[in-house]
Amino acid sequence: MKIIRANDYADMSRKAANIISAQVILSPDSVLGLATGSTPVGVYRQLIEWYKKGDIDFSKVRTVNLDEYCGISPTREQSYRYYMNHNFFNEVNIMPENTNLPNGLAADFDTECIRYDRLISDLGGIDLQLLGIGHNGHIGFNEPDQAYGKMTHRIELNQRTIEANARFFEDASRVPHYALTMGIKAIMQAKKILLVVFGEDKAEILYKAVNGPVTPSVPASIIQLHPDVTIVADNAALQKFTFD
Ligand code: PGA
Repeated sequence: MKIIRANDYADMSRKAANIISAQVILSPDSVLGLATGSTPVGVYRQLIEWYKKGDIDFSKVRTVNLDEYCGISPTREQSYRYYMNHNFFNEVNIMPENTNLPNGLAADFDTECIRYDRLISDLGGIDLQLLGIGHNGHIGFNEPDQAYGKMTHRIELNQRTIEANARFFEDASRVPHYALTMGIKAIMQAKKILLVVFGEDKAEILYKAVNGPVTPSVPASIIQLHPDVTIVADNAALQKFTFD
């Protein structure tokens, strides 16, 4: 596991974007696993800037996102499809048909989850998976104390996550209670993982995820077992770590 320290949010975003950019330059048809949330916004912004300068070409890139709420139309700004379109896809030359998220409006969620896993497998698997971490250690919407062996599945969000995500809705009562998420097993099958972490409020959970026991009570701790993980985090998020 490599841990890269960043001075601040802009530095974290640039360093992580550099890693994604290198992936796309080396393998233009990469399959990128993408994440939503506040943390990666700056990464996408940086990639857009480099695209506009002519430094990166996304025309052959394929993407699969980690998760999507159940029951929210992709045209609503709280949906992760909307987030991805507005924060990234619409601003670069990626083909819309090459961008994928679980369908939170599917008539049958079990069938949708099977479709999504098959899609990832048909794409040849994920070359680089971008991740954020929740305050409770979740990755994607894999909440604490779920079995580690799951592929894409429907999950009930726990109260802490609903409260954390209420900032994007009128109030907490509007946050959907269910989502479709790639499971831990699916995330661990990515060839490389890039975890971005920002801010003092993530310091404790990041430390536990990296140095604590590998346990479903801290879902992100599983990445200790992945052979190719890079964490890019700012000094505040790394304040519990000691470096030589
Ligand atoms: P955040 O979310 O980047 O908005 O803090 C991270 C996550 O919950 O995965």
